[in-house]
Amino acid sequence: MNKTLQKYRKKSGTSTKTDSFVHSLNVYRMAKTQVFTTVASLQNHLSEVAKKSTVGFVPTMGALHSGHVSLVKASSKQCDFTVVSIFVNPTQFNNSSDLEKYPRDFDKDISLLEASGGAIVFAPTVDEMYPEGHQPKRMELGRVANIMEGEFRPGHFDGVVEVVYRFLEIVNPTHTYFGEKDLQQLSIVRHMVKEFNLPVEVVGCETHRLEGGLAASSRNERLTKDQKEKALILYQSLDRVRAEKESYGPREAREKIKEWFQDSELELEYIEFVDATTFEDVTEWTVHTHGCIAAFAGQVRLLDNISMV
Ligand code: PAJ
Repeated sequence: MNKTLQKYRKKSGTSTKTDSFVHSLNVYRMAKTQVFTTVASLQNHLSEVAKKSTVGFVPTMGALHSGHVSLVKASSKQCDFTVVSIFVNPTQFNNSSDLEKYPRDFDKDISLLEASGGAIVFAPTVDEMYPEGHQPKRMELGRVANIMEGEFRPGHFDGVVEVVYRFLEIVNPTHTYFGEKDLQQLSIVRHMVKEFNLPVEVVGCETHRLEGGLAASSRNERLTKDQKEKALILYQSLDRVRAEKESYGPREAREKIKEWFQDSELELEYIEFVDATTFEDVTEWTVHTHGCIAAFAGQVRLLDNISMV
């Protein structure tokens, strides 16, 4: 069993911290949003309402924001029903204090979904997702899982594969929606669906940005007003390189971005220019080149990437 999951079970008994009130109810309804907390109640509902329908699935870890809402809207536009999961997955955290600190505000999440047109919410406990005897789905992920996010968060993508596979098995959607903001995750999910021949269409959705280009993120809430302004350097440095890319190549661009960060208050973790289909470093600009960046604003780790086309 994953070490973080083991520690988490010992500490919290059988429940997640999502909301023990909701978990005790099993099903909970608002005007346009229904919440299910068990696999059986969700599947029972879907088998009644969603027969022969298209079902879109948006997995999330809660702390919902406008980026998540853009995925829910894309699904609602394309599908008859939309299922949104809210589950802070312990198996994708390699650090238990990160897991504990992960923001949770279930009521706010439900209000935001209700205001965005509603959804079928699946908010299971850890035990419901991973009952005793559960065998995690694993696959060979290769290079994509060992660089950038994979390098700085070992084991993270194994946990993502495990939880997404389990969700797809439970919800059995026709479509599933993932943000391009997490480029490696999107690529790994596409690869997994192909590898296991799963009958679902993976839809990649554009990164939703706030004023100045900052990518919407649950972590932005932990930034001060000043840090939020300074954090614009993630997007703006990539955007500047894209505008100037006729003048220099990816190698020089990396050095320039490193220099720009030295003059800023953020601490750069990595800047890479990769081919978004192979995740190999590129030495020349191509139509597949993405600039990928991670940096700390104080204690808050921020992530972004853009296509260089
Ligand atoms: P979470 O970080 O909650 O993100 C859920 C989905 O929202 C992911 O597909 C992510 O790429 C997308 N997203 C986040 N910010 C976005 C933005 N600004 N614009 C567009 N989409 C955005 O990613 C996870 O959760 C987990 O790893 C999960 C897939 C749920 C598995 O546990």
